[in-house]
Amino acid sequence: MALNYKQTKLVKDTIPALREHGERIASIFYRNMLRAHPELNNYFNSVNLKNGRQPRALTAVILGFAANINNLAEQVPKFERMCNKHCSLSIRLEHYEIVGEYLIRAYAEVLGPAMTPEVQVAWERAYSVLAKMLTGREAQLYKQFGSWSSWRKFRVDKVVPESADIYSFYLVPQDGEPLPSFLPGQYVSVQVPTPDGHLQARQYSLSEAWRPDYYRISVKRDEGPAYANAVSKSYLHPGAVSNLLIDRVAAGAAVDVSHPAGEFFLDTKETGARPLVLISAGIGVAPMVSIANAVTQSQPGRPISWIHGSRSEQVPFHDHVARLRAQHPASFRTAVFKSRVVEGVDVPGVTYDFASRVDLARLSPDEDRLFLEHGGTEYFVCGPEAFMRDVSLYLRAQGVAGAHIKIETFSTGDAALEQK
Ligand SMILES: Cc1cc2nc3c(=O)[nH]c(=O)nc-3n(C[C@H](O)[C@H](O)[C@H](O)COP(=O)(O)OP(=O)(O)OC[C@H]3O[C@@H](n4cnc5c(N)ncnc54)[C@H](O)[C@@H]3O)c2cc1C
Ligand code: HEM
Repeated sequence: MALNYKQTKLVKDTIPALREHGERIASIFYRNMLRAHPELNNYFNSVNLKNGRQPRALTAVILGFAANINNLAEQVPKFERMCNKHCSLSIRLEHYEIVGEYLIRAYAEVLGPAMTPEVQVAWERAYSVLAKMLTGREAQLYKQFGSWSSWRKFRVDKVVPESADIYSFYLVPQDGEPLPSFLPGQYVSVQVPTPDGHLQARQYSLSEAWRPDYYRISVKRDEGPAYANAVSKSYLHPGAVSNLLIDRVAAGAAVDVSHPAGEFFLDTKETGARPLVLISAGIGVAPMVSIANAVTQSQPGRPISWIHGSRSEQVPFHDHVARLRAQHPASFRTAVFKSRVVEGVDVPGVTYDFASRVDLARLSPDEDRLFLEHGGTEYFVCGPEAFMRDVSLYLRAQGVAGAHIKIETFSTGDAALEQK
């Protein structure tokens, strides 16, 4: 049910106090909710709960929504990323009821006497309007997923190293049924049991164009902060899922995989010939391989630029990209930035083009790898957050419209929300 004028005002009047106590609300909310519903630990990323990214993201969306409650239509595009993520994690209507209950209780605890019964009803309505919008969109996505709307068992067919710390996993469905198509750039969630007895899911971009027999993901080892002393180097908090996949999940193992999802993709139904510029750093390369493969297969003459920055000795997918360039010499352009060049091993023009981090200003306009003059060029950017910010700022300064720059962040919350 919609809010009346008075309720809208009550909600808006309490926003400053809720913003001020955002961190406290989030910690009360998650603590109480997870105590009463420990099964939800299997859904939430434990690291993003601890470092506050997830609570901050949820609070920012709810308060932002409430502050703009009179302009609901304008807010819908902002929800696309989270709805896709929710669906890739099997979040359901009943979970929204639990979240709503514990969130309003946390608001009440923090607001104290200011949370009058009237204010509480107003907030319950506001939450239910938002939950309805999200679950409505999620119902559409689940419908598109068809019968695969939760976890599906896959067998790891093979694991192939792409560099010293990136491994591709070829995943075959155990039921042997053909795999549904996805849009290049999208991801799957992979769920594994972790040593603490919980399940943990993480997202991995599909790194191959769609094919009916297997999906491929490429996982980078996340070592975490290093701790070095005189004799050895060790790691304080090695990433839970990436290390587990790389060290413990070999060919033949079973993993749970979600239906592909995500709002960062190339729309292959829009068959225009507008140039595409793929700009990545590190493991941000994964969705770019899927996009490049899909385009070179289905639209072989479409102009496409591949710009990648790597710190690894072995640039991931280097040979594959060199093959694509050789097969499509008129349309496929590349630029590889390597920040650690190894003397005697690296050869300029062969293993790399620029001995530095990605610096778009170094690309000569004569070779036109950014297609800045075209006006309709689509830019796909994926890598560390600071890198994506710098690339976006550079492109915007060159006159590229924000709507033509798509970014994919490999984390939760902040950066993903900022771009909207
Ligand atoms: C849409 C999307 C697509 C993605 N695609 C890919 C992909 O194609 N390939 C890929 O490799 N990754 C991808 N990711 C990232 C991936 O989902 C995981 O986040 C990544 O593998 C790290 O997960 P993990 O479980 O290993 O690390 P986590 O255990 O989640 O830890 C994350 C980081 O936090 C640090 N940390 C953990 N605990 C602490 C602590 N107590 N104190 C301080 N630091 C701590 C860890 O060292 C690590 O650096 C994607 C993410 C998204 C959202
Ligand atoms: C109105 C209600 C909700 C809001 C506003 C909300 C908001 C968000 C946002 C902003 C993100 C981060 C998206 C991203 O950056 O990728 C997110 C992710 C997530 N949400 Fe929700 N959410 C809501 C309901 C729920 C419910 C009901 C559940 C399940 C109990 C849930 C579980 C999750 C999980 C598990 C993630 C991924 C967390 C991670 O990767 O760290 N959310 N949500």
